[in-house]
Amino acid sequence: MGQCFKATVLLVLALAVRESSGQRIIGGQEVVPYSIKYQASIQYNRVHYCGGTLIRPQWVVSAAHCWRPSSLIQVVLSEHSLVLEEGFEQIFNVSKALVHYNYNYQTFNNDIMLLKLAEPAQLNANVQPATLLEDTDPPLNSSVSCTVSGWGVTRIYSSYLSQVLYAVVVNVMPNCNFYYYGKITENMLCAGSRFGGKDSCQGDSGGPLICDGNLEGIVSWGIGCANPYFPGVYTKVRNYTKWIKWVIGTNE
Ligand code: ARG
Repeated sequence: MGQCFKATVLLVLALAVRESSGQRIIGGQEVVPYSIKYQASIQYNRVHYCGGTLIRPQWVVSAAHCWRPSSLIQVVLSEHSLVLEEGFEQIFNVSKALVHYNYNYQTFNNDIMLLKLAEPAQLNANVQPATLLEDTDPPLNSSVSCTVSGWGVTRIYSSYLSQVLYAVVVNVMPNCNFYYYGKITENMLCAGSRFGGKDSCQGDSGGPLICDGNLEGIVSWGIGCANPYFPGVYTKVRNYTKWIKWVIGTNE
């Protein structure tokens, strides 16, 4: 009994250490280069600061809190290593950066923004838009697992971005308001791992959370990263499909 208990404690400790010493994004892996074809890097002075998702050849969706004046930012598609010039990069100026009219920077409600690229992206084997759902589509099954990707920090207390694109599989966490004492609005969804250790983190903001092949979330906020009691919070993209289509339609 004593031995068994000790062994269990050791095992739990070993797992906890393995989880919390997590690698990139947090607890994820480097992706096969160019396999996340809708992933965008948003850059300021040629430096990555947020992620984004290509949804139409000329439109990228990101988080409102990633807003900077459109003349100062660029969007890079077909990117893998931020430090190497690999020759596949498509780099765009941004002609419009449109933040949701109801974005609240204190609560992060409606944390969504659309970027219009100066010209349409070249769709190819490395660059393809993500799919959006209609309001008529069946609701997201809470047992589904999702993938979040980005160049965000690789360790919980690090401030160094990842040099290459990472991704991690996370689960949608229902009852998130229990953890975040009522701060989760109808326009947010939470995803993480029950034991912590797997999450998006600083620098992943604006990037895609893909579930069953559809863009369901935008990396938005969280308390710390990869904490079992504070999962990552994502903008619930489904709620904005109408707004997205309206913005694109009126800004073509
Ligand atoms: N706000 C962060 C950013 O600007 C993203 C934080 C995500 N946090 C989390 N625990 N998933 O990059």
